Amino acid sequence: MKPSIQIREVQVKEIPALLKLFREAVLSIPDYSPKLRKLFLHKYRSEIVRKRITQKSSLCLVAISDGKLVGFCWGMSAKPTQDGVYWMNWIGVTKSYRRLGVAGKLIRHLEQVLRTNRFHKIWFNIDPKNKRSAKTFRALGYRQLVRVRNHWYGSDALLWEKSLSKKK
Ligand SMILES: CC(C)(COP(=O)(O)OP(=O)(O)OC[C@H]1O[C@@H](n2cnc3c(N)ncnc32)[C@H](O)[C@@H]1OP(=O)(O)O)[C@@H](O)C(=O)NCCC(=O)NCCS
Repeated sequence: MKPSIQIREVQVKEIPALLKLFREAVLSIPDYSPKLRKLFLHKYRSEIVRKRITQKSSLCLVAISDGKLVGFCWGMSAKPTQDGVYWMNWIGVTKSYRRLGVAGKLIRHLEQVLRTNRFHKIWFNIDPKNKRSAKTFRALGYRQLVRVRNHWYGSDALLWEKSLSKKK
């Protein structure tokens, strides 16, 4: 039976639990080199995440089950220019809650919030070896645009998007 999941915005007091989830997500990306893992964990270290998540342009949703954080998705809007595009930085679901629709719930909720706020697009990148993530986003109606070579820390990245407006 699927667990009951509530989706809402993260609260400041939940940042330590969020950081734990984030670390778990980074460490579980398939085939990340130890160097890349280290660099990502440094880039998104505690004080940086805390600072960025509390910015106005940040929107971080969390999935709660039995009072615990079991998933998150976090990104930034380009609010100062109101250009309607949301960049998703990260999504992660704790291992024991995967394949239960948690990512799907987070993303559908995110899309609803963004549509209400007149955003017309979500975009992000996926590591080419992260097939699990690609399957998740394809199942949710996202499409891969292009492979960007020699990108984050010199590795390739796949750029994905979904239009939130009615007309594609
Ligand atoms: C990618 C991730 C967020 C997916 O979360 P999830 O809650 O397990 O995804 P869902 O249960 O909502 O899956 C939605 C659909 O995606 C596909 N999917 C998800 N995980 C899959 C897997 N391991 N293998 C095949 N298909 C998968 C399926 O179609 C699935 O629907 P189904 O279970 O009804 O068949 C999760 O695996 C994760 O946290 N991975 C580590 C961090 C990461 O890679 N983040 C992405 C960085 S871009």
